[in-house]
Parts: sequence; structure tokens; C-alpha cells
Amino acid sequence: MIQTDGLTKQFGSLTAVNGVNFQITEGQHSGIIGPNGSGKTTLFNLLTGFFLPTRGTILFEGRDVTKVPIYQRVCMGMARTFQLVSVFNTMTVWENLVLSGIRFRNEETVAFRFFLRNIRREKIQQSCYEALGEVGLLSKARIPTSELSYGDKRMLEIGIVLTLHPKVLLLDEPFSGLSDHEIHHVLNLIHRLKEKLTVVIIEHKISKILGLVDRLFVMNGGRLICEGSPEEVLCNPEVRECYWGKEEGDCLR
Ligand SMILES: Nc1ncnc2c1ncn2[C@@H]1O[C@H](COP(=O)(O)OP(=O)(O)OP(=O)(O)O)[C@@H](O)[C@H]1O
Ligand SMILES: [Mg+2]
Repeated sequence: MIQTDGLTKQFGSLTAVNGVNFQITEGQHSGIIGPNGSGKTTLFNLLTGFFLPTRGTILFEGRDVTKVPIYQRVCMGMARTFQLVSVFNTMTVWENLVLSGIRFRNEETVAFRFFLRNIRREKIQQSCYEALGEVGLLSKARIPTSELSYGDKRMLEIGIVLTLHPKVLLLDEPFSGLSDHEIHHVLNLIHRLKEKLTVVIIEHKISKILGLVDRLFVMNGGRLICEGSPEEVLCNPEVRECYWGKEEGDCLR
């Protein structure tokens, strides 16, 4: 589904992502772990088109998307959420959803849009209602987004993504800043989403994603230093040292 070859991003003299060969297949759910500043978010920014790579290529479903703009990658089925929740606070919950539903639909021609715009509107509304229901925000549709809790904003952000009907969803630390109660809801949601689409998740709390992912990737200093099943990766000595330091401890904590 996604394959990178020698993906590299330099910011001046800093190499944030360094020669990364990253590969995921459809239906395989992956986690990306690594210390602060190891290049996880930069990798997402490259995959989704927020940054152009300094070197290397990105294939999405076999097509070279290295230089394809963000919105086109979204239309092709690639969607992401952000480390810091990214929603429009000045709009209502419903408006946030409708905006993405309208903006990122490109399956119809101009003529089709003109003659069948009411059908299209219904289709978008239906899609937004489904997304709202899935993330549990139906009763909050009309309230300003600024009044939502951070946990609800995270749910809304994922709801926005769902209106796009992506094939792959890249989640950048979806649990950060949430209470245990909110984490529980987001976790359950991600478990449900796994049935429908391919999930890639960056997370610091490794224990949270062990039951979610089939495969773990570990980054350190911009490099992908290890990949494999969670069990394999967590028992790799290089991973243990870079991620937990030299202290011995329970690697599943
Ligand atoms: N736009 C940018 N300009 C300059 N340097 C950047 C930029 N974005 C990221 N970096 C640097 O690239 C390195 C990797 O950052 P990145 O945000 O990808 O790490 P991360 O693994 O996501 O870290 P964290 O776990 O803290 O979120 C860091 O040294 C960071 O300061
Ligand atoms: Mg990050």
C-alpha cells in the first residue's frame, strides 16, 4: 500500500529522516515508536505530502506520489491526524465535517455536480452523519468546536477523516493529552476502524498499541532501526537500549 525508498528529509544540517525504507501492506496495522525527535512525525509529513523529501521516493498503491500535493493524496485514500489536534475551532462540529466532505470529493465530473447536486448534498450529509455517529458526537453536532473537550476534539478530528473514506489512516499520537477515560474511547474507535481500513499509528505509550498493531517500526535519529512483530521488536537489544536506555526493565510497560 505504501512503500518508500531511501526517504530522506534534511532541515539544514539536521537529517530528520534518513534513508528510510518503510513498507506497509493493505489490512496490516502498524505502529511506529521511537524517542522524541527521532523523525516519526516528519515521516508522516513526508508520506502525506506536507514536506517534500530531500531524497527518496514514496509509492502509494504502486503509484509514485513523491511530488503529489496533499489534497490529491487525500483524494487517493491517504488521510492523517495530527500530534496536536487540528480542527476548526470557530466552526461547529457539523461544519467541520461538512467542509471536509465537500472539499475532498473528486469522483464526480462538473456536469454531474451541476445536475445532481442535491443527490451529492445528501450523499455528503449521510457520510457526515455516519462519521458523527461513529465517533459518538451526534448530540454535539451543532455546538461550536471551541466548546469541546480535548478528547472530543480528537474524536472530531478522526470523524473528519472518516468523511473522506480513506484507505489508509495515519494517526500521530492519538492518545496524547487525553484522560484515561478518553483514551479508552479513542482506543475502541481505532479497534473498530481497523475492520474497515489500514491503520498506522505513532505512539509513545507502547502498551496502548500492543493489542492494536501487527507490526512495529522503530525510529532512532531519523533512521528506521528495526521492524517486525511487536514481540520481535520489543526484545531487540538495540531497540531496548535506544528506547529505554541501558536500564533493564519490563519492555512492555
Ligand atoms: N519543520 C521543521 N523544521 C526544522 N526542523 C524540524 C522540523 N520538523 C521537525 N524538525 C526536527 O526534526 C527532528 C525530528 O522531529 P519529529 O517531529 O519528526 O520527531 P518525532 O519523532 O515526531 O518526535 P516526538 O516524539 O517528540 O513527536 C527533530 O530534531 C525536530 O526538531
Ligand atoms: Mg512527533
